[in-house]
Amino acid sequence: MKKVLITGALGQIGSELTMRLRKEYGENNVIASGLSKDNGSEEVLQSGPFEIVDITKEHQIADAVKKHNVDTIINLAAILSAVGEAKPGLAWNVNMNGLYNVLEVARELNSAVFTPSSIAAFGPSTPAKDTPQDTIQRPTTMYGVTKVAGELLCDYYFEKYGVDTRGVRFPGLISYKTLPGGGTTDYAVEIYYKAIQEGKFTCPLDKSTYMDMMYMPDALDAIINLAEADPSKLKHRNAFNVTAMSFNPEDIFASIKKFMPEFNMNYDINPTLQKIANSWPDSLDDSAAREEWGWNPKYDLDSMSKDMLEKLKIKLSK
Ligand code: NAD
Ligand code: SER
Repeated sequence: MKKVLITGALGQIGSELTMRLRKEYGENNVIASGLSKDNGSEEVLQSGPFEIVDITKEHQIADAVKKHNVDTIINLAAILSAVGEAKPGLAWNVNMNGLYNVLEVARELNSAVFTPSSIAAFGPSTPAKDTPQDTIQRPTTMYGVTKVAGELLCDYYFEKYGVDTRGVRFPGLISYKTLPGGGTTDYAVEIYYKAIQEGKFTCPLDKSTYMDMMYMPDALDAIINLAEADPSKLKHRNAFNVTAMSFNPEDIFASIKKFMPEFNMNYDINPTLQKIANSWPDSLDDSAAREEWGWNPKYDLDSMSKDMLEKLKIKLSK
């Protein structure tokens, strides 16, 4: 990667990835983009180039790639699971037609493409524990349908046209800088905000709901390390299982309580979110990522809780 265009750069991942890449690759070599500048992170908007790019408009992607001589597109523009269930047509348009446009621009202008998939690419018939790298993928959400189809489309562009496509299946990502964009795992971010702001949290998922999760610094490492990996070692280019921890609401509650003993939690189950969460794996087997490009996350639940609470307290006190 020398010149990178990030789509959806003002979202949960993009707002942190842009800053990390600008530090490592140079401020002018990382072009952030999004639907508009409104409510965007000031540090992203001020620290380097920003372009308006709607990925459903192919010419906007192509113009940005040509203008900045981009060699790698990191495509983070997407509609996530909960919003996707409320607006399935929008999810299809952005996640599929948008990805198709990104891949077409990459094919025509000779750039590499990194697109995250998700644990949502699995479904209720997938083995839920130690979910293998290669297994049944019959998701029951529109988001999941677009993620499986997206994995296949990226494989197709590599096999047929030689576009250097890569990607990981991210679990729920936990971070303190930018709020998540409407997913099923969002409770695991919100719980930290509520712990600090109110000392209590009402959990929308049942206490036995296990899902894979990861702290943002590990997610950024995953993107950079896979994007820079030796291609000759990659057998699963577009859909590496990656995880850092698997927990249920009781586990994250207990972890926060270690640092905030007065914290309380009750439950008010959201049936839509519960149904989505029940259809996803409990824990992924990420051995292919470990073997093929050295995936090795640094944060577990307690070290994440400690860091989240410290950083969020500073942020919320300003
Ligand atoms: P997000 O919702 O926080 O950010 C997505 C961004 O895309 C938003 O800023 C949104 O405005 C923008 N966007 C929407 N439609 C667009 C369009 N047509 N053109 C350009 N931009 C558009 O999402 P995120 O959490 O940063 O996720 C990035 C990627 O990672 C997505 O593919 C998502 O599926 C994947 N992922 C995220 C998680 C997670 O927990 N955050 C987990 C698994 C996979
Ligand atoms: N965090 C994402 C979601 O819940 C997983 O892809 O939608």
